[in-house]
Amino acid sequence: MRPGAAQSADVPATSPKKLLFATAWLLVGTVIIPGCKKTTESESRQPPIGQERYERMCSVCHGMEGEGYAADKAPALGHPEFQASVSDELLRHAISEGRTDTTMSAWSIKRGGPLPPAEVDAIIAYLRKWKPSEARRLNNNKSTGSIDRGQALYTNNCVDCHGKRGVGGANVGIGNPELLKRVDNGFLRHAIAQGRSGAGMPGFWNTLGPAGIEDLVALLRDWENPRPKEKKHKHAKVPPLPLGEVPMNPDGPDPKGFLVHPGRTSIDVIKPEIERGAKMVLLDARAPSAFTREHIPGAVSVPFYDPEPYFDELPRDAWLIAYCSCPTAESTKLAAALKKNGFEKVTILKEGLKEWRKRKYPTEGGKAEK
Ligand code: HEC
Ligand code: HEC
Repeated sequence: MRPGAAQSADVPATSPKKLLFATAWLLVGTVIIPGCKKTTESESRQPPIGQERYERMCSVCHGMEGEGYAADKAPALGHPEFQASVSDELLRHAISEGRTDTTMSAWSIKRGGPLPPAEVDAIIAYLRKWKPSEARRLNNNKSTGSIDRGQALYTNNCVDCHGKRGVGGANVGIGNPELLKRVDNGFLRHAIAQGRSGAGMPGFWNTLGPAGIEDLVALLRDWENPRPKEKKHKHAKVPPLPLGEVPMNPDGPDPKGFLVHPGRTSIDVIKPEIERGAKMVLLDARAPSAFTREHIPGAVSVPFYDPEPYFDELPRDAWLIAYCSCPTAESTKLAAALKKNGFEKVTILKEGLKEWRKRKYPTEGGKAEK
């Protein structure tokens, strides 16, 4: 029971009418045929939970009908061309692990999010209702193109929307290794050739032709390899949690009255500066499990015993405030490691997280849903 199954195959898959139709059909299906749970294998996996979770947790960015762009640059998960070419593995990985340096967070319990594996699968089953019934013929062969020509084409046609090397642009991060490691060449060829009509991605089949598309696929494949300068990094270890967005309030003023480590800064100074929207990074120095359970809103996890993997990503022009609960043993260790590695604007929260809690200041955590 897939949307569009009842339609003739000659309706173009990209027609917005079809997307609407499929959606309406789906809604009717869910409302008046509640007994059809067991029709296919994928749908026996609790579609109501998938839908409930999707609407509650995902639609705020991806839209109630998967139309995308309800917030930020969250792509159109319901787009027929996306659904026709994307694998369950990519969906599962994106949802479970998130995408570094974007607002797409990791949703799996394993990564500190609310979703057990079965609920991730239920969401995937729900998303698949938007998959068109006509199969697309995807060519997964190795690219025959040239990276150099691909680079020239990319600079002329893609960089404005997708950013240099496919990250940090206005639209979905196509250079993100987490994506590239999990898509086949067929997905890339299809996306570039057909585009995503109505979702802001033009198709390039007519302008660049098959040869141009091969060159672009060769370029994207090359981006999977670490950047040349990253190869030299001595901190090759993978951190336990991704750093997330730093600093807080990137455009805010510098905080006043902070004392450089080994000086300590009081909660009476730090709290008002957070409220004022000052630019800073709150570093939770404890083990990531403690961070995941509860932390100060906006804080990032940088465990005191293994901070090296984060050094490259931490800003050097913003104040770094380490805190822990003990109340200052772990934060002092972290502050010392930061100073040793050339960070200058470093301090610790003098009273620690205990005092923060005692005063009933807000905290947040990634507790599992009940
Ligand atoms: C705060 C906004 C936000 C929320 C909430 C959110 N996402 Fe995302 N999501 C994004 C953004 C932004 C991207 C694109 C990231 C990038 O550029 O790589 C994305 C990417 C994805 C992708 C990969 C799509 C692709 O084209 O590669 C999937 C799948 C996805 N999200 C599913 C979900 C699901 C399921 C949920 C709910 C459990 C969810 N998202 C919640 C913002 C969000
Ligand atoms: C006008 C802006 C724009 C231009 C130009 C553009 N793209 Fe896109 N691209 C997008 C948007 C927006 C999406 C996501 C569409 C969606 O939500 O389904 C996208 C999606 C993609 C995807 C699929 C990624 C995914 O995870 O679903 C690939 C691959 C891609 N673009 C490659 C390219 C290449 C290569 C070029 C240059 C030849 C290019 N794009 C030019 C806006 C653009």
